[in-house]
Amino acid sequence: MSPPSLYVHVPFCHSECSYCDFYRVSYRDDAAEAFLGALAKELATLPRDWVPPTIYVGGGTPSALREEQLESLLEALAPFRSPAQEYTFEVNPKSANRQKIDLLAQAGVNRVSFGAQTFDAPLLKLLGRRHGPDDIRRVYGMLREKIQSISFDLIFGLPTELIELWERDLEAAIHLSPDHLSVYSLIHEPNTPLTLSIERGEFAAQPEEVEREMYLLAIDRLGDAGYEHYEVSSFARAGHRSAHNQAYWRQDDYYGVGPGATSTIGLRRYSNLRDLRGYVQGIERVGIPPRAEERLGLDERIREHLMMWLRTSGGLSLSVFESLSGTSLSRYSNGAFERLAALGLLQVSGDIIRLTREGLCVADRVIVELMA
Ligand SMILES: C[S@@+](CC[C@H](N)C(=O)[O-])C[C@H]1O[C@@H](n2cnc3c(N)ncnc32)[C@H](O)[C@@H]1O
Ligand code: SF4
Repeated sequence: MSPPSLYVHVPFCHSECSYCDFYRVSYRDDAAEAFLGALAKELATLPRDWVPPTIYVGGGTPSALREEQLESLLEALAPFRSPAQEYTFEVNPKSANRQKIDLLAQAGVNRVSFGAQTFDAPLLKLLGRRHGPDDIRRVYGMLREKIQSISFDLIFGLPTELIELWERDLEAAIHLSPDHLSVYSLIHEPNTPLTLSIERGEFAAQPEEVEREMYLLAIDRLGDAGYEHYEVSSFARAGHRSAHNQAYWRQDDYYGVGPGATSTIGLRRYSNLRDLRGYVQGIERVGIPPRAEERLGLDERIREHLMMWLRTSGGLSLSVFESLSGTSLSRYSNGAFERLAALGLLQVSGDIIRLTREGLCVADRVIVELMA
């Protein structure tokens, strides 16, 4: 197994996006300073002689930090750096600027995940984003000059969104030619402002049929434009798959630091609580943040194995599954495997099963059926 990867959670945002359930708080200068002090201490508790194969700095919005703060975060991460590593930062079109991008590039950041979401101004407004389509193009131009690999986040299936509009989003993204795209259908996260307004009837959720059509359009358009569809939501040009995500899917170990971050080392999983104040105080008082710990049972490892591999284009190996679980997938799933294959949602080739094109559209449900 590879050495553990490193995830860093920066819990600040300038926006309050209406759909988002990630752990984050509104940016405040003093809170960001306190967070960075505590984070440096948490990083100091990690193994000394370890060089993670990938570092991923996400959030929240790491680019929400002021330039000096970004510099101190990059300095705190310097001991974990190596030239061969994939080093990713999430960047938001509104809070990024040339100086911040220069700092990232100088520190060896070679991959940026860029929160574009959509190129449509009214939809960006509905999502509570502070950026406009011109910000995406302007910041992308700056990133392109300095950063080796750039990924776009796009969301589809938004209320009021027409298929033609999603098609224009895809064309606009392809025109800019990022190296990677993460394409998500809107998740209706409970109690977010957008979900609540859909529940109140102010907006209609997109019918499943429209979401399906939008997703298939993304697969076709991005495929034609030379992107490999290597995971349910992930598309990459040759050599630009996300190494960090692939490590998660292989169930490699990882350390996560920052409030709300999870670590998995062997069968031990611990999650820092989603509480910035508690995080800072915990580290000040006892040297570690408040966290929930669990020991992963075999059941959990099997479920995660199934879920992760089935989402990838490489598919799930039946023999590997059997050696991990001690039982065949047919028996484990109580025959759901055969039923789903007969419905054309799974395809078997030798030892490997994969989601079909129709199966990809309902990936989460197929996986739940197999685990039921
Ligand atoms: C931490 S954010 C990315 C960085 C930065 N905070 C930003 O938004 O620009 C992670 C990504 O998850 C996706 N996301 C968040 N909530 C979602 C939801 N409810 N449904 C679908 N995608 C979502 C968005 O595409 C977002 O860019
Ligand atoms: S989508 Fe990104 S910018 Fe918006 S609230 Fe969530 S983490 Fe913050």
